[in-house]
Amino acid sequence: MAKNVSGVDAEPKGENEKIDSVAADVGRVSYDALKKASEMVKPGKKLLDVAQYTEDVIREQGFELAFPLNISVNEQAAHYTPSLGDEKVFAPNDIVKLDIGAAKDGILGDCAMTIDLSGKNGALLDASKRALDDAISTVKAGVRVSDIGKAIQNAIESKGFKPIRNLGGHGVMEHNLHAELFIPNFDNGDDTELEEGMIVAIEPFATTGRGMVSDGDSYEIYDYIGSPVVRSQNARSLLTEIEKSYHHEPFAVRWLSNVVSSKFGLYSGVRELFSAGAINAYPVLVELGNGMVSQFEAEVLVEKDGCKVLTR
Ligand code: CO
Repeated sequence: MAKNVSGVDAEPKGENEKIDSVAADVGRVSYDALKKASEMVKPGKKLLDVAQYTEDVIREQGFELAFPLNISVNEQAAHYTPSLGDEKVFAPNDIVKLDIGAAKDGILGDCAMTIDLSGKNGALLDASKRALDDAISTVKAGVRVSDIGKAIQNAIESKGFKPIRNLGGHGVMEHNLHAELFIPNFDNGDDTELEEGMIVAIEPFATTGRGMVSDGDSYEIYDYIGSPVVRSQNARSLLTEIEKSYHHEPFAVRWLSNVVSSKFGLYSGVRELFSAGAINAYPVLVELGNGMVSQFEAEVLVEKDGCKVLTR
């Protein structure tokens, strides 16, 4: 899942071996779910069915979800997940981004791919895929994040597309999908260096549009901030469930239908929690020029002379 602010931090050293082994499991389970999801994406298929199946695949293996399956189509770059009872189906010409992560013991997976249902957008998909490969071959301890961004930018621009500049990859720390490190999709001049043992997600986005995203008007993913006083019974029950089950990682509104089953009651309760400052929203991110968007993402462990891809 993409990050759109910048900052700097380092992975704390210490119990790294345990973290690395859980990270390898989480990465493998994430990638396996991503592949299974991709096989279901066909014209006429409901987005909701793909999301529920994929999320269940992860839960049935004893893992949690780092975040809901993002299914972002065409000019949507990220952060759409089906609503409760969502009737949307894939259209024959859709460009579909799937972004998923498993979690265990607070260690989070994160990987993404794009499916081109018409088969006519191979070059756009190649641009972000090639950018990811080039970025991965750049990663090692001591490399500057701007050098990774430069590799991504070069790969995408050489195919005639634009990288999305206000989306990027990120560090991954326990219970913090968007740990402070920001991996740009262009050469932003940031000379922050990667360190051995860091886990980072790299996610190039290529577009036919302007190379920027802004907030759309769809809100299906939130995360917990705190517990202010809220008035309605629905909002109070939702907050209790969020504190219990989704204290750390982002969740989908539809995951809360066990608490409030009516769609109206559920969404108005969630809006009340958002207004009260109990939860933070991840609005769907839409390309500013309504350009088509492709994305590939992998999570890697930074090593002295290279990196290990965890999500494969
Ligand atoms: Co990500």
